[in-house]
Amino acid sequence: MRITMIGSGYVGLVSGACFSDFGHDVVCVDKDASKIEALEAGRMPIYEPGLEQLVATNVAAGRLTFTTDLKSAVAGADAVFIAVGTPSRRGDGHADLTYVFDATREIAEAVTGPAVVVTKSTVPVGTGDKVEAILREVRPEVDVQVVSNPEFLREGAAIGDFKRPDRIVIGTDNERARGVMRAIYRPLYLNESPILFTGRRTSELIKYAANAFLATKITFINEIADLCEAVGANVQDVSRGIGLDNRIGKKFLHAGPGYGGSCFPKDTLALLKTGEDYEAPLRIVEAVVQVNDSRKRAMGRKVIRALAGDTNAAAREETRGKTVAVLGLTFKPNTDDMRDAPSIAIIQTLQDAGITVRAHDPEGMEAARRVMPGIDYRTDAYDAAAGADAVVIVTEWDTYRALDLKRLKAAMSGDVMVDLRNVYPPADAEAAGFRYSSIGRVA
Ligand code: UGA
Repeated sequence: MRITMIGSGYVGLVSGACFSDFGHDVVCVDKDASKIEALEAGRMPIYEPGLEQLVATNVAAGRLTFTTDLKSAVAGADAVFIAVGTPSRRGDGHADLTYVFDATREIAEAVTGPAVVVTKSTVPVGTGDKVEAILREVRPEVDVQVVSNPEFLREGAAIGDFKRPDRIVIGTDNERARGVMRAIYRPLYLNESPILFTGRRTSELIKYAANAFLATKITFINEIADLCEAVGANVQDVSRGIGLDNRIGKKFLHAGPGYGGSCFPKDTLALLKTGEDYEAPLRIVEAVVQVNDSRKRAMGRKVIRALAGDTNAAAREETRGKTVAVLGLTFKPNTDDMRDAPSIAIIQTLQDAGITVRAHDPEGMEAARRVMPGIDYRTDAYDAAAGADAVVIVTEWDTYRALDLKRLKAAMSGDVMVDLRNVYPPADAEAAGFRYSSIGRVA
């Protein structure tokens, strides 16, 4: 198969590299010449475990190439995937489809057919119809089918997710298009990954419903964690206790500082907008969005309370001028992505309360500097903790799971540790001399 990937960002690059690894002939296109130049030189624009090697192998085998020339990449392709960004539109939360429609128009000019045009970008229900309308209008004579094929990749685990998916969703009623998609995913099909064929609108909705459900699961356990703290219960045991019920499932029940990233926040908002547009409001998702938004700042206040050692206003006032070391800035481990990271709101809350913040993150500091220039970035956890009054674990990077707690404590001038990811057993932190608090567990 000859596959063209429009957009060499996170989704396009990972998908393109994996398709080429299946043996297909793949060309990844991007408008950003510096990105294409870097990729040609073997430099990855994002941090994703295993990607550099996967790209290098398939480039060397001659199956994977990069270009800025969309026209020549699209001509003769069997399948053209649209994998451009669909950010939240400023002001209203609708998905901004400018890049999708711009790409569609360019594809329409260049496509020779027969071909399938596949939306891999997360696009609201009905977008496939609009993409099809543009293609038909510009090139009525060419045989092009429009297919929805959402991605379910997690940052940091994207290659594994692509090659061993829980399912592949393909939205089209057209038999020829189904055949092309079957051929593209054949290696996974042989591996017995389930392929679900649906209508196009259903496929588009599956993507949003999946992300909204996962966001709901996280938010549910986060609220249960707050209740655990109030009643003296343990949220990790609650997660285990409910997760062992197969109908609920164990995953995505880790309580924390709230979900972030480039997907859940934007996709939940976009789904709400679709619900509004079609007068089928999604009240549960609405509550999830609100609860998650307010949770991030609430986590900042939790740190201030731990630092004050008391809930009264006078004690809180005394935290002014104190220093807090934040460990972990990215929205989750194994990524350098800072988009909608809880750390941003937490740090803002601390700074608003007159607290000095310094920070460390294994991969995210370059991106963090662009969002939060006024922070003292340190070389490692111990350096960040040196002389600090409190340390806060915001992202559960492996390196923070194996800290020498005694050494960390000795480096500090204070003794407060707030573990927003429940990385440590409370007894271990206390044995090292910390006044320790975490999420949904009473120390
Ligand atoms: C998410 C989905 O998991 C993917 O299936 C989907 O393809 C992707 O969005 C997307 O739409 O592109 P991702 O945003 O990379 O993937 O990250 P997740 O691993 O899902 O984590 C999202 C957020 O939830 C993180 O902030 C994480 O810390 C938080 N989380 C996750 C929890 O707080 N608790 C959990 O139990 C799980």
